[in-house]
Amino acid sequence: MLNLTLGMNLWEEANYYIPGGTMLLSKNKNLFSPEYWPCYYKKAKGYVVEDLDGNQFIDFASNGIGACTLGFANTEVDEHVIKTVQNGVMSSLNCPADVSLAKRLVDLHPWSDMVRFARSGGEANAISIRIARAASGRDKVAICGYHGWHDWYLSANIADKDQLGEHLLEGLGSKGVPSILKDTVIPIRYNNFDDLEKIKENDDIGVLKMEPTRTFKPATGYLESIREICDNKGIILIFDECTSGFREANGGVHLNLPVAPDMCILGKALGNGYAITAVLGRRDIMEHAIDTFISSTFWTEAIGPNAALKTLEIIDREKTWITLPNLGKQVKDIWLRYGANYQIELVVSGLDALPVFRFTGDNSSILKTAFTEMMLDRRILATTQFYPSIAHDSNSINLYESAVKDVFSTISQHINQSLPVHELCIGKICNTSFKRLN
Ligand SMILES: Cc1ncc(COP(=O)(O)O)c(C=O)c1O
Repeated sequence: MLNLTLGMNLWEEANYYIPGGTMLLSKNKNLFSPEYWPCYYKKAKGYVVEDLDGNQFIDFASNGIGACTLGFANTEVDEHVIKTVQNGVMSSLNCPADVSLAKRLVDLHPWSDMVRFARSGGEANAISIRIARAASGRDKVAICGYHGWHDWYLSANIADKDQLGEHLLEGLGSKGVPSILKDTVIPIRYNNFDDLEKIKENDDIGVLKMEPTRTFKPATGYLESIREICDNKGIILIFDECTSGFREANGGVHLNLPVAPDMCILGKALGNGYAITAVLGRRDIMEHAIDTFISSTFWTEAIGPNAALKTLEIIDREKTWITLPNLGKQVKDIWLRYGANYQIELVVSGLDALPVFRFTGDNSSILKTAFTEMMLDRRILATTQFYPSIAHDSNSINLYESAVKDVFSTISQHINQSLPVHELCIGKICNTSFKRLN
């Protein structure tokens, strides 16, 4: 057993001072193992994380919730940021890197003309909705995917608290979101052609926002149908590529798909862990940003755009959009191979660069908890999804493979002896995690 005392104690204290213990749901230990999770880190470099108790793990989990595709603390990005810091990250004047970054992103996405920056994915989503509502002159928004925590999005759950169940988390409360926003957001199910009729029939919808692909590939003709409906009805199509961007293409994953959006959101991988997100769009739409008020002090600090410029240089040089899906494919193959060898039922899905698996059957949460805890004992931070980084080398993949083999074999022996599966876990079982359907 690992000694995780300092981390666990700090988590207890955190919950006294910070409601929910953390600012990000995906860093809540209860999603992984309520009683055996390191919770806090001291140091992260490459693919190695050291926790507060001094345990070192290789990260086969989310690699900074998907932010660090170049690995943690990438030396080149960090050195560029340090120079930026030394020149002053804030001033009464603008930062020229904003313009260089906007030009670079427009070059990478030839359908776009203009860019606005923010520092989080939720903010960028809220910005895009404001601009798109202003441009379309209509209030209602159709959505498909996860688009952040703001009122506009969470209002989908006012009418029925499970409306976002297929896009975010089941039963998510919307207390504090003005009830007057009820019915302003219409969720549609991914790859469901019938749901597209809802959009065709509703003349109040001015915006359709979606993750173009994530857990599943688009069905034949699906995105093309969406594009056609949007064109016919004057609906602004926004692709939220906060997470999918820069993993399977040098830009949004839509660059590999048959359809271009009218606006697009990029985040996460854009700054390799430094806070920077972007809203790209066509000029005729983006210019509506000045008909309304969208403005914030820290959207003008210099670290974010400078980190992004260096990150984009490395992405381009290293062709990370080839490496990341290759790594993901290897990990998918490990899950499938040892799942089959040890008769463990699981389903593998997701973009190759964002692979996920799910234990099937009634014991899925118990098995997820057991898997996580047993992988930790083998010094691997792992859950049922893996966000690869180019720091992951063959050595780390080999270590991961032998740990998965070992853990699946242990689970299988336990099940074959008809022993209660919860005995595989240290204590409480993890909560249901994000459930994504696109
Ligand atoms: C598609 C998508 N949109 C928006 C967000 C929200 O981004 P943030 O957590 O930076 O606010 C996420 C985060 O996971 C995401 O995956």
